[in-house]
Amino acid sequence: MRTIKIGIIGSGGIARAHVEAYKQLPYVEVAAVADVVPGRAKQFAEAQGLTNAAAFDSHEELLKLPLDGVSICTPNVAHYQTTIDSLRTGKHVLLEKPMSVTLAEAVDMVAAQKAAGTLLSIGFQPRYDPNMKLLREIVQSGRLGNIYYVEVGGGRRRGMPGGTFIRKELAGAGALADIGCYSLDMALNALGHPRPVTVSAYASNLFGRNPKYHPEADKFEVEDFGVAMIRFENDLVLQFKISWAMHMDTLGPTLFLGTEAGLKVTPYGTGPWSGAWDGKIGSMTLYHDEFGTHTHTEIPLIEHKTNLFFEKVRDFAEAVRDGKPAPIPGEQILIQQAIIDGVLRSAEAKREVEIKLPE
Ligand SMILES: NC(=O)c1ccc[n+]([C@@H]2O[C@H](COP(=O)([O-])OP(=O)(O)OC[C@H]3O[C@@H](n4cnc5c(N)ncnc54)[C@H](O)[C@@H]3O)[C@@H](O)[C@H]2O)c1
Repeated sequence: MRTIKIGIIGSGGIARAHVEAYKQLPYVEVAAVADVVPGRAKQFAEAQGLTNAAAFDSHEELLKLPLDGVSICTPNVAHYQTTIDSLRTGKHVLLEKPMSVTLAEAVDMVAAQKAAGTLLSIGFQPRYDPNMKLLREIVQSGRLGNIYYVEVGGGRRRGMPGGTFIRKELAGAGALADIGCYSLDMALNALGHPRPVTVSAYASNLFGRNPKYHPEADKFEVEDFGVAMIRFENDLVLQFKISWAMHMDTLGPTLFLGTEAGLKVTPYGTGPWSGAWDGKIGSMTLYHDEFGTHTHTEIPLIEHKTNLFFEKVRDFAEAVRDGKPAPIPGEQILIQQAIIDGVLRSAEAKREVEIKLPE
């Protein structure tokens, strides 16, 4: 079996999960680590037992090695340059979510990927939940008829991160980019990636900016709440809502309304940090008419014991090894970057704005 060589760019929290997954794959060698903080990559490699891995204080040095691919695990703000440089040096890329800070960056990344002919896969591990796959299968089956309205999103009662996640120039956006991207991916992937045309949105940071609720309130620059009505080319509308903090237990279930049936989906888990779609499905119910009466069917959920994060890393590694397409192509995720960009523009302008995607 061919061994593939992988580099890790950014050696913080999530890089550990990438390395742990790669270590379980006998055909992968984690051959290098890079981090901008001097000495951090070396320390990380030692702590992870990567005895043969080269350590660098810049991604440019790492990219001089003949690696097959890289996992990009930097804060959002550094996703752009590290991805572009990796693609231009012929590396396959597994990039952590969210894809980018701005829409323009995501557009560039997809263009660079096409020019390079290598893979650009984005790290949305909830897609590996078998119930997320089942949701897509139900929506794609036609069972719901013509789907005209979707409501998606999630709300943590209290779950605001700090550090780089709350700085606009480093993260791009707050709850929208951190957990909203999962909700959007869930809906858009199930719907088959329709093209958005307009958005009308509201966003605020009434909790993040309040020292009563956040220890770094004075540094809090992003939104902790957002809501948007998005219109799509096929006359579908999607209501999207996301919250890092609120005085409410939930922002309600995800709903798909169709002319033949409706589907209600609730997230798994409880507690102040739950309620967002960065994990699994809690329940799925189909509402339909049978023989002239209203009824509903509880969809039995599939038990799944494999680690979703491992599956995302394994699929990327397999795609690199076997020359298969990107498991979660950047081109698909570009659509949600365009939506997030539109939400922020509309919230600022306080009116509906157009969403323009490259052809
Ligand atoms: N998929 C998931 O479940 C999941 C979970 C958490 C975080 N993430 C994403 O992973 C990314 C990293 O998050 P984290 O929690 O590991 O952050 P972190 O701050 O713990 O680690 C990031 C590391 O990247 C380094 N870095 C910054 N700029 C760099 C550059 N240009 N080149 C090389 N290294 C650089 C930092 O010094 C730091 O060590 C974020 O985009 C986040 O959204 C994904």
